[in-house]
Amino acid sequence: MNETLEVIKRRRSIRNYRPDQITDSELEAILEAAISAPSAMNQQKWHFTVIQNQDVLKRITDLAKEVMKSGPEPMAKRAAEPDFSPFFHAPTVIIVTGDSAGRFVQIDCSLAAQNIVLAAESLDIGSCIMTSPEIIFKSQEGRELMKELGVPEGYAHVCTVALGYKDGDSPPAKPRRKDVIDYIR
Ligand SMILES: Cc1cc2nc3c(=O)[nH]c(=O)nc-3n(C[C@H](O)[C@H](O)[C@H](O)COP(=O)(O)O)c2cc1C
Repeated sequence: MNETLEVIKRRRSIRNYRPDQITDSELEAILEAAISAPSAMNQQKWHFTVIQNQDVLKRITDLAKEVMKSGPEPMAKRAAEPDFSPFFHAPTVIIVTGDSAGRFVQIDCSLAAQNIVLAAESLDIGSCIMTSPEIIFKSQEGRELMKELGVPEGYAHVCTVALGYKDGDSPPAKPRRKDVIDYIR
């Protein structure tokens, strides 16, 4: 198997991170991979907000606790845990937003997110794509925070990617369905 296929097969969603930060050159390589993704009609109507500032991450965590406490029972329970972090304490968090008016923007952003996680894995950096932070960024305070962080007007949260060195081994791969492919030959 070549290296690309090995990285694709090896990548797992990581939910345990070491606190030490990834290097700037690793981050730049990952972001270069993000913007190298294809996009419909090459519109590139995506935006990547890279957060490594602990105060901002804490503000988002506090906001998450606030909005999640009135959510469904399992969500409220998770947010009430003393060590709760919406991003599993990852030292780098990338909020991926896309132009709400653009067509196929969700696909474009998802492809960029996939490039992020594959580039990360190729550097032995753990990652997790998450849509659950949507509840944070859809709230009034979340929208204000996104504005403050420089997310362009009219752009909405598509997903958030947690990044950091893995604390321990990657979990084993979850079984993949094999009955989803038809060959018409
Ligand atoms: C669109 C999307 C949304 C996801 N949202 C979350 C999330 O909110 N929280 C989380 O812990 N994992 C999230 N995941 C990760 C999935 O749970 C994970 O990809 C799946 O269980 C397969 O495991 P693997 O990534 O280790 O192969 C998301 C993945 C995708 C593709």
